[in-house]
Amino acid sequence: MTQRLGIIGYPIGHSISPVFQQAGLDHLGIDATYEKWEVTPERVGEFVAGLRAPGSLGINITVPHKQAVIPFLDEVDEWATAAGAVNTIVNREGRLSGHNTDGPGFLRALLVETGYSPRGTRALILGAGGAARGILLALARGGVDSLVIANRTLERAESLAKLAKDNSVLAEAISLTKTDGSADALTQAAASANLIVNCTTVGMSHGPDEHGSPLSAAQIPASAIVNDLVYNPLKTPLLEEAAAAGATTLGGLHMLVYQGVLSFQMWTGRDAPVEVMLAAATAEMASRGA
Ligand SMILES: NC(=O)c1ccc[n+]([C@@H]2O[C@H](COP(=O)([O-])OP(=O)(O)OC[C@H]3O[C@@H](n4cnc5c(N)ncnc54)[C@H](OP(=O)(O)O)[C@@H]3O)[C@@H](O)[C@H]2O)c1
Repeated sequence: MTQRLGIIGYPIGHSISPVFQQAGLDHLGIDATYEKWEVTPERVGEFVAGLRAPGSLGINITVPHKQAVIPFLDEVDEWATAAGAVNTIVNREGRLSGHNTDGPGFLRALLVETGYSPRGTRALILGAGGAARGILLALARGGVDSLVIANRTLERAESLAKLAKDNSVLAEAISLTKTDGSADALTQAAASANLIVNCTTVGMSHGPDEHGSPLSAAQIPASAIVNDLVYNPLKTPLLEEAAAAGATTLGGLHMLVYQGVLSFQMWTGRDAPVEVMLAAATAEMASRGA
């Protein structure tokens, strides 16, 4: 019997997970299809209940359902509990478990692609939305030494700084404002950061500031690793500034694929073909003009 996998969201049309997950399944000769389903908020419970059926391996979950699925599961792992969000459901003989591979995928992508691991480092997080929260928890669990959270709305950065402190990490909240590279708080935070992660939508195609960069080359140290979570375009304005500064750069597509790689391994019990999945994701984004 062909087994079923997929991703739910609302809307879901933009998702490229079906492309790289199917490429991985096909490469290993696994008889399964990975689809995308648009599920309205009212239908989440009914949809999740249907995942207990034989032939269903599980699903990924994206915005806005990552919290809404939790009450319908039999168990939720430690990462997902800490994040308060589930991005992967696994069906084992009718029992549904919830997991969160976003944080581990982010850390794995950085480790494999740049050699970075958080222990003893200083990180600057740009943004304070849902993605920033997950990144903060991943860095805290990885043993980061200290964090600066810079956000347009300062109160949201302050609330994340409190979350960091609750997780025993030194943290400071500052304002993310456009600067001329002078010695303001943002510039100082960037100058001493080992890792800079953009978790804002600045630089995202069709976003609120698609040609903008939260930092200029003059503010980025050559010794830093700069990871932009935005993956459309593949080469964002921030990554161009970072490359001009001589910093190590990593685009958001790697995190996206690595969170999928970890989900793939949970569903199939097989090592995912990472290079095949990365190549399929990159080709899909290129075909969309990213
Ligand atoms: N690569 C991956 O796997 C992956 C995973 C998750 C998310 N992402 C990407 O990460 C980004 C953030 O996602 P999210 O879910 O965290 O979104 P979100 O919860 O809506 O948060 C958006 C963030 O962007 C900031 N922002 C929006 N417009 C801005 C502007 N014009 N200037 C400065 N800051 C601005 C917001 O600041 P305020 O608080 O002031 O509004 C907030 O910090 C998106 O581009 C998303 O595609 C990528």
